[in-house]
Amino acid sequence: MERRGSSGLAVPSTSQGNSEGGVQEGAKQHSRPSELRPRVVLLLRNFKFRVAGCVLLVLMSILWSHSLYAAGWRGQPGDSSSVGKRGVLRTFRIRVKESIRGRGPYNEDKGACPLHYQRMTYEDVRDRGQVPYLLGGRRQPHCRTCNSKAPWANFCSWDYSKFSGFRGPVCPEWLQEQLLTWMIESAERGRPGFKEMLTMTPCDLFPLLRGRTLWLMGDSMMQEFMKAMMCFMVEFWDVDRQPQPPIQPHSEPYIDFEWPLQGWCIQLPQDARICLLRANTADQMLDFVFPAFPKLGVKLEDVVLVNFAMWMNTDDQYHGNMTKFREHVWYNLRDLPLMMWRDASVQHFDTLSGDYIWPPRTNSCVPFRDVYLDDQNHLHSWDPALRTVVEGGWRNKLAYAGLIDLQMPIVHTWNMSLGMWNYHTNYREEPGDCTHMCHPSAYQVWLYAFYETLKALPPDARASAQRHLMRPGTR
Ligand SMILES: *[C@@H]1O[C@H](CO)[C@@H](O)[C@H](O)[C@H]1NC(C)=O
Ligand SMILES: *[C@@H]1O[C@H](CO)[C@@H](O)[C@H](O)[C@H]1NC(C)=O
Repeated sequence: MERRGSSGLAVPSTSQGNSEGGVQEGAKQHSRPSELRPRVVLLLRNFKFRVAGCVLLVLMSILWSHSLYAAGWRGQPGDSSSVGKRGVLRTFRIRVKESIRGRGPYNEDKGACPLHYQRMTYEDVRDRGQVPYLLGGRRQPHCRTCNSKAPWANFCSWDYSKFSGFRGPVCPEWLQEQLLTWMIESAERGRPGFKEMLTMTPCDLFPLLRGRTLWLMGDSMMQEFMKAMMCFMVEFWDVDRQPQPPIQPHSEPYIDFEWPLQGWCIQLPQDARICLLRANTADQMLDFVFPAFPKLGVKLEDVVLVNFAMWMNTDDQYHGNMTKFREHVWYNLRDLPLMMWRDASVQHFDTLSGDYIWPPRTNSCVPFRDVYLDDQNHLHSWDPALRTVVEGGWRNKLAYAGLIDLQMPIVHTWNMSLGMWNYHTNYREEPGDCTHMCHPSAYQVWLYAFYETLKALPPDARASAQRHLMRPGTR
């Protein structure tokens, strides 16, 4: 039985050695097995090394790809090696953390942000190692929607070459670059908010949306703002599902509805939601949208961000609409959630005030040459004719006067978007539209302004406005 070893198998070499009384002796005396042994060991060793080599190779390539990824999603891995190295370690830690937490796409822990966003430093942005999240930088270190082919994922990548018209407009690359340069310059000059904008993450905004719906109520400008919101929060909702209408199903949710109540919602984790309610005028809001609040399921803890402006081209019209709106809010304050107001946006038609006139003088949009933004984000001009522009435009001046005693928080956007005269690009591919803008541009600055305004409000902002306005005897 033991002689089977002579057939060259490894087993007998030990058994034979044992039978001789000593391993060493056995190895010396029997030439064949002793020859065999090193070869077998070598083979085994080689095999081990090969496996270890393969594992190492795989590991290295994973690390490498992640470090490339962490170094910048727009493929500039070269210039910022420190970013890459930090990215590798971080990626690994986060990987492990996420795998421990489970396979769900979101962290359901209430109070925590459902997703992990690595905050970029201002220096990384300034040195062009990172694209700010607000300007379309993809989530780091992991991104769920980056490889999605869904139309919204496409749009939100703000890749001009993918722009397919109906869901635009996306700013061309050079304009996007110009915007980033301007924002960095502004940050360097110490203009308030710019460093914050460049390093803001969607996890800053999320806690303010948790458990409530943010209703965006207004015209096509608000609709564009909705798109900005959708893109900033793109990792938080299911881009492969079509956003749902807030009430009635309608067939084509993406075309530009100019009829009240058209709009759509995106569902975020932890009962957060963002909805657009289309309404161009206060008349439409009062006739259609406010009465539908119960049916829409508007709750007291929600937030409604409102604006109407662009559809009113005379003082009378705007004043009439504002009065109607004010009165409604005043008398219904107890049943309304927190109402916030967004500035009327800046237009850049070829007129002194930038306002639209018919017939247009030219088809081009023009800058306000004699108005400048100081380092405190305040506007100035030497030209007395531009005073109204410096003070926020005629619509905002009228609105501020009307809203001040309602204590409605105002999201100021005018000053910071006044300089963006050349971002009115390609809206519906129409020339001569100096109202709407491409993405990313002013809408993203508004988003930050909205966040800042909402964040600064005390938790009982709604209640305190009520107390302030409650007339004696109305309880
Ligand atoms: C509101 O503005 C529209 C123009 O968009 C106008 O037709 C309407 O009369 C205005 N409403 C009031 C109450 O003034
Ligand atoms: C915008 O500029 C005007 C004029 O300088 C200033 O009064 C106003 O406070 C500025 N608004 C903001 C939000 O900084």
